[in-house]
Amino acid sequence: MEKKKELYRGKAKSVYETDDPNRYIMYFRDDTSAFDGQKIEQLERKGKTNNRFNFFIMKKLEEAGIPVHVEELLNDRECVVKKLQMVPVECVVRNVSAGSICRRLGVAEGLDLNPPTFEFFLKNDELHDPMVNDSHIISFGWGTQEQIDEMRAMSLKINAVLKDLFDKAGLILVDYKLEFGLYEGKLILGDEFSPDGCRLWDKETRKKLDKDRFRQGLGGVIEAYEEVARRIGCPLD
Ligand code: TMP
Ligand code: ASP
Repeated sequence: MEKKKELYRGKAKSVYETDDPNRYIMYFRDDTSAFDGQKIEQLERKGKTNNRFNFFIMKKLEEAGIPVHVEELLNDRECVVKKLQMVPVECVVRNVSAGSICRRLGVAEGLDLNPPTFEFFLKNDELHDPMVNDSHIISFGWGTQEQIDEMRAMSLKINAVLKDLFDKAGLILVDYKLEFGLYEGKLILGDEFSPDGCRLWDKETRKKLDKDRFRQGLGGVIEAYEEVARRIGCPLD
């Protein structure tokens, strides 16, 4: 497959066109961003770690019957993905309270949420990803009721698979963000799943092993990502 021009440069990844009109190459840079791009640093090994982590998780989800855009791992930083038409919302599932839900609702960090919460956020850094509901999504034409129902159902099915996978590795899947897109009219999981877009705590010590280490300046960011990868059996080389 021939890599062509850079089509889109996000905060941590770039997307390249290829000679196949239905495929892109997704390139994981070392850039690490938080607070809607206000804090950006290069962290050594980050691109490689997240590319391999994402490939490992996406294949586990595919095995569990979730349609995913990732097809092939090309090298340390790149994978081949299906070209999706993205739905411009982010789907967030929470098993334990942390982050923005604590600020918004004035609740303590670390409360078990049973059943898990499900929220939509508009993908818009300038507006700091405001929360939106089903009615906004339909009225503004970002998605249909059917797509909303499917994104919610898939996000919760993914929760069952990943909560169990991380639990077996001694980790709590606190929360995570997913993005979906359309391929030949079908909803498919897009973007990435890595410690950049989820919260993972050690079950015993509750040590944070995700991007909160970067957001909160706790250090050892990539070392934590590598530890999670090692614990779930994800190869990094
Ligand atoms: P939040 O606590 O900031 O709402 O985020 C919940 C989870 O979703 C957390 O693991 C981070 C992830 N997330 C992103 O990675 N990017 C985003 O733009 C949003 C809104 C959430
Ligand atoms: N949308 C946010 C950002 O990447 C999420 C985060 O703070 O990680 O800037």
